[in-house]
Amino acid sequence: MTGEQSHPLFAALYDPVLWVVERTVLYPHRKYLVQDLDGRVLDLGAGTGAMFPLFDKAIESNRSIEFHAIEPDPHMQRRARDRADALDLDVKIRPERAESLPYPDDSFDVVIASMVFCTITDVDAAVGEVVRVLKPGGEFRFLEHVADDGWRRRVQDLLAPMWKRAAGGCHLTRRTPSTFVRAEAFDVIELERLSIGVTPVRPFVRGRFYRRRLVDSHPLGTVGTETNTLKVES
Ligand SMILES: C[S@@+](CC[C@H](N)C(=O)[O-])C[C@H]1O[C@@H](n2cnc3c(N)ncnc32)[C@H](O)[C@@H]1O
Repeated sequence: MTGEQSHPLFAALYDPVLWVVERTVLYPHRKYLVQDLDGRVLDLGAGTGAMFPLFDKAIESNRSIEFHAIEPDPHMQRRARDRADALDLDVKIRPERAESLPYPDDSFDVVIASMVFCTITDVDAAVGEVVRVLKPGGEFRFLEHVADDGWRRRVQDLLAPMWKRAAGGCHLTRRTPSTFVRAEAFDVIELERLSIGVTPVRPFVRGRFYRRRLVDSHPLGTVGTETNTLKVES
């Protein structure tokens, strides 16, 4: 473990600070991430286990789901383990990072990322790992806060250095969806911009991407271009 992955204060404040936001703004979007879950599911950067209560509900209706999680920060990880124990949720939590996942190729049906790509150091490497561990035909689902435009973006730029130090390495101005869309192994099922949150943590994007079965045979051979739904909220 490096100092980069140890944020005891951030871990201690995470749940109390987000308590109201979790129950109001974020809840419907977390529900979106777990709709019709099946098979082996990986929670990337589980934090304090904010997704675990929703996993617990999902498993009530589908006993065959198998949950796995990675969380490199030991302070976050301890809270996630406590939450899993309190819920009696069977989730196998490992300490590795998204850039180097400890699973074989094609091992998950769904990979979920909630508010984690803002913090991951090497986003391209992590996307490559998501592609590698997803089964062909599997889904990558995400909810992320991203860079805004206009004056809000200027506020984000101003606060970014201080925010990164205070919020466990979080970057305010990442253009995360572009990185995902560039990955040639994905097709976009849904991608939405959500005008939720408060500057500087606004807007959000959420989406579902499909892991192509035959990457090499795609006629364009490059990015995910088959967009079934592209909805932009004002
Ligand atoms: C803002 S928290 C979000 C936690 C949780 N997913 C949620 O929805 O509340 C970001 C989490 O990503 C973890 N993280 C940071 N770098 C990571 C990496 N390279 N790979 C995986 N997780 C990472 C942090 O330790 C932190 O717990």
